[in-house]
Amino acid sequence: MKHRLDGRVALVTGAGSGMGRAASQLMAQAGASVVVADKDLAAAQQTVALIEAASGVAGAVQADVSVENEVAAMVAYAVDRYGRLDCAFNNAGVPASDKSIETYSLNAFNRTVSVNLTGVFLCMKHQILQMRRQGGPAAIVNNASAWGTGGWAGAAPYVASKAGVIGLTKSAALDLAGVGIRVNAVCPGLIATPMSKGLVDDPAGAAMALGKQPMGRFGQPEEVAEAVLWLCSDASSFVTGTAMMVDGGWVI
Ligand SMILES: NC(=O)c1ccc[n+]([C@@H]2O[C@H](COP(=O)([O-])OP(=O)(O)OC[C@H]3O[C@@H](n4cnc5c(N)ncnc54)[C@H](O)[C@@H]3O)[C@@H](O)[C@H]2O)c1
Repeated sequence: MKHRLDGRVALVTGAGSGMGRAASQLMAQAGASVVVADKDLAAAQQTVALIEAASGVAGAVQADVSVENEVAAMVAYAVDRYGRLDCAFNNAGVPASDKSIETYSLNAFNRTVSVNLTGVFLCMKHQILQMRRQGGPAAIVNNASAWGTGGWAGAAPYVASKAGVIGLTKSAALDLAGVGIRVNAVCPGLIATPMSKGLVDDPAGAAMALGKQPMGRFGQPEEVAEAVLWLCSDASSFVTGTAMMVDGGWVI
């Protein structure tokens, strides 16, 4: 089974909730030792407890992905504890607001970009430095968004940050294609997580969103985790630089 991760070390950011938690659990089930990183340490520790209850191997670390020394320490934690770093899911993100572009403050714009885009850059930078040092195949998956592939009224900073993640992913894939480090992105559509709870729980908003959704339902975090596992595993050994839609056909 090429989509196993036995003997591999995986790192997931924003792993205390939603898609990050689901991906951490699935990677551990697939045999990886998982570094569960989040700015919320208690949430990361809860993910570790879930993994350990299912006989998996995981350790929690607190890291804000927008702070470079915390990101460097997060990667160092993976290497100190498990000896190397084979794959990473750069997933931590903050949600969109709903305001016309001219009403965003510079601070609000910068906050969104510093986590969703600069955070992915910092994580990739420190992960790749380690992956190059240790040599051998490695894989990085970044969490973009279906919204990063087009425009979305009211969400300009979020959409710009996610489009940037797709650009970072494709460029890094070219930088690293010759050294065995694959870099891909997933582009989830509407996924039922704590981030989207307001929409999922609002009957009128949910009906409006699902009216545009060909599959007529929200996705589940586990469905994104399956794509992440595949992109991290040897099953996708000839795939790099892709931005994989996991959106129930929404963007079509
Ligand atoms: N839910 C959706 O419909 C949807 C759709 C497309 C893309 N996404 C993206 O998927 C990713 C995960 O979203 P989710 O829905 O699972 O969200 P979530 O809110 O359930 O989880 C996000 C996690 O990220 C952590 N986090 C936030 N800022 C951080 C920081 N600076 N450093 C480290 N950790 C931080 C939070 O503590 C939380 O545990 C995000 O990047 C989001 O933009 C979500």
